[in-house]
This record gives sequence, C-alpha cells and structure tokens, in this order.
Amino acid sequence: MKGNYDHFMKKEIHEQPDAMTQTMRGRVVFEPDGKTVQRVFIGGMVDYLSTIRRSRRIILCGCGTSYHSAIAIRSLMEELTELPVTLELASDVLDRQCPFFRDDSIIFISQSGETADTLRALEYAKSKGALCIGIVNVVGSAISRATDCGIHINAGAEIGVASTKAYTCQITAMVLLTLALSEDSRSLHDRRMEIMRGLADLPDNMRRALELDQQMLSLAKTLVNENSLLLFGRGFNYATALEGALKVKEVALLHSEGILAGEMKHGPLALVDDTLPLVVIATRDSSYVKQKSVIEQLRARDARCILIVGENDDSLDQYACGKDMIIRVPEVADCLQPLINIVPLQLLSYHLTVLRGHNVDQPRNLAKSVTVE
Ligand code: UD1
Ligand code: BG6
Repeated sequence: MKGNYDHFMKKEIHEQPDAMTQTMRGRVVFEPDGKTVQRVFIGGMVDYLSTIRRSRRIILCGCGTSYHSAIAIRSLMEELTELPVTLELASDVLDRQCPFFRDDSIIFISQSGETADTLRALEYAKSKGALCIGIVNVVGSAISRATDCGIHINAGAEIGVASTKAYTCQITAMVLLTLALSEDSRSLHDRRMEIMRGLADLPDNMRRALELDQQMLSLAKTLVNENSLLLFGRGFNYATALEGALKVKEVALLHSEGILAGEMKHGPLALVDDTLPLVVIATRDSSYVKQKSVIEQLRARDARCILIVGENDDSLDQYACGKDMIIRVPEVADCLQPLINIVPLQLLSYHLTVLRGHNVDQPRNLAKSVTVE
C-alpha cells in the first residue's frame, strides 16, 4: 500500500498533484485546447449556489488541519462572493452556543467526515435552520450524509494521521466553490480567469515544489536538535504558517508556532535572538513589502531566518542564513500560492520526524479520526 515509500505521510505528500487533479476532475471544464479553463461546474452544488449567494454570511467550520484550510480560503471567498466570511473552530461552536441563523450558509470541512466536534457543530447548525454544506473526503461519512449538499474532495484514502493531501484538496475544492459562486460577476471576470488559468497549471507546479525534497532533508538536518521553530506568514499565507507549525508539532514532536506576521511586534519579537530558528513566508503578493520589512526587523536582531520565496525572486537572498535557508517555490496566482508553499513545510516536518526517530504515521497520543468530543 505504501508502494516505494517508507511511510504513508511521504506517499501522501507526493500524491498531491494527482489528488488535486482528482478534486478538479469533472468540475473544471476546459476549452477545446485542453489547457484553458472555460468554467467550473460542481454537480453537487448547482441547486444550492443561489441560496448561498443570498445568505447573510458564510461561516467556515472545522478542526485542526481542516480549520487551517478554512483560514486559507477565507480571503478569496470574501473577495469573490462579496459576503462576510467568518471562521469557527468546531469545538468552540457548542461551547459558545454560537448565534447561527437560517440565512447563514455554513461550510463544514472534514477529511474523515467523522470528527465528533464538527459533527456536533453541524447538528447544532441544522437545528438553527442554516444551510449546511460539507467539504469531505470520505464518501458516505457522517458529515457527508448529514449536510444538505457539498463536495467530496476525492483525494483518495489518507492514512497518515498528519493530514497532507486532504489539506491541499480541501482548499482546491473551496477555490472551485468560490469560482462557482462568483460565475455571474462581470467585474470579477479577469480575476476569475487568472485563478482558472492557475488551476490548470497547479498540479505541474505542485510537482516542481516536490523537487524541494532533498533540500528539505538538508535543512531538517540543521534543525534536528532544536527545541522550537516559529513560522511567520500573513494574508493568504497565514494559514501556511499555522499548518506548517501544526505539522512540525504533531509529527516531529517539536514545539512550533504559526504566527500572523502583523502580530510580530505584539509579543513574538521578545523571543527572537540569534539561536531560535524562524521560517518567514515571503512569496510575492499584496503583503510582500510588509513581509520584507518583517524580515529586516528580524535580521536586525540577528534572527536565524529561513525564507520561503518565489523562484524568480533573488532580492531577499541577503537575509537568509545559509544556502539551504532560502527555499524557492514555483510562483502561482496569489490565492493559490498557499497550495504550493505548504509543500516544503510538509517535507520538512516529515524529514524532521524521521531524523528525530519518531513515528511518522502514528504520532504519539493522536488519532486520525477523533470520534469523541
Ligand atoms: C458524483 C458522484 C461521482 C461521479 C459524478 C459524475 C458520488 C458520491 N459522486 O460526483 O462518483 O463520478 O457524480 O457526475 O456518487 N454531498 C453532501 N455533503 C458532502 C459532500 C457531498 O451532501 O459533504 C452531496 C453533494 O451535494 C451531491 C452528492 O453528495 O449531491 C455527491 O457529491 P460529489 O461526489 O461531490 O458530487 P459529484 O462531483 O457530482
Ligand atoms: C484529528 C487529526 O485531530 O482531526 C488532525 O489528528 C485533523 O490531523 C483533525 O486535522 C480534523 O480531522 P478531520 O477528519 O475532521 O479533517
């Protein structure tokens, strides 16, 4: 089942280009040239799109990695639907007795479709009369069955406890949903076309990102004895920082925190010295200039910066602390960049785990599907 791979996690990281293709199969309609995307068609959602467009707001709800995919799509969903999009951790929905209403559209995101917290939040949302939508990998799972409609991400079975391909396929499915929700907008035509072109090339760009494997092994060797790793991201890549940190924490058993770079001065900066390793995600988007300023401030304190930058960008090389510390990734549309940027961090956490001698596919104390609250 693992084929040529030592672990399911590694196999699933490398399956991502094909898994993403499966998420898009039958939903992305190409022009006769086979390369240009004509439109997005989501069979399971067509009857519900107008209801979602008329909602008062969209709420994204999940746990763990699935919650991070919600953070990753939020900004694009707000931009293209022009609706308020809010986020809820599933366990907090019941604790707070969240005010959900019948004109809310609530998207429940879950790889397994069985996570108890998410399922309970869904039952609560149904009792309030909200439209409930699932983004689920496992067909026939409890969340898939209990939602009014949804999208099966079709990523294939994910065995490793640390979610990898489900994360990128969840985001891909929600990009498709966002494009379908905005298909009538004339003013968004150019932006939508840019994203659709990016989707067509996404699996190939993901394949190129996977070529960073050996560099991430070398980088992992320099980090293997560390006690902590901080990751700074912002905008589309705040989710990348959180998800990268979760991977390092849950499988490599190394303390790690994902931090919104805009919050750096409000606390995290106190931790920065010349020993603590930091990852800063600085691919080109509307927050690039601010991210460059963050890097300058970190370097002014002699921080050990590892930078994730676009492959055609050499303007930040001076700030990286060593050859393996600058990670060059393929450049794609800004909103799709998180799908590429997470790849070196998945690979890094995998190699760190192996080097530290921990169980990759069954991390200590964790379960793939948490079916109790
Ligand atoms: C469906 C078929 C797929 C087939 C395709 C061909 C299933 C499961 N899928 O895929 O095998 O190749 O037609 O046209 O038979 N749903 C929920 N909640 C969720 C996820 C999905 O209610 O969390 C609903 C959808 O709204 C839809 C149904 O389940 O009514 C199937 O969803 P999905 O597999 O995503 O639909 P298609 O892509 O149309
Ligand atoms: C568990 C897993 O805690 O559940 C995480 O260890 C996962 O990796 C989380 O992200 C949510 O799972 P699901 O199946 O609802 O996406």
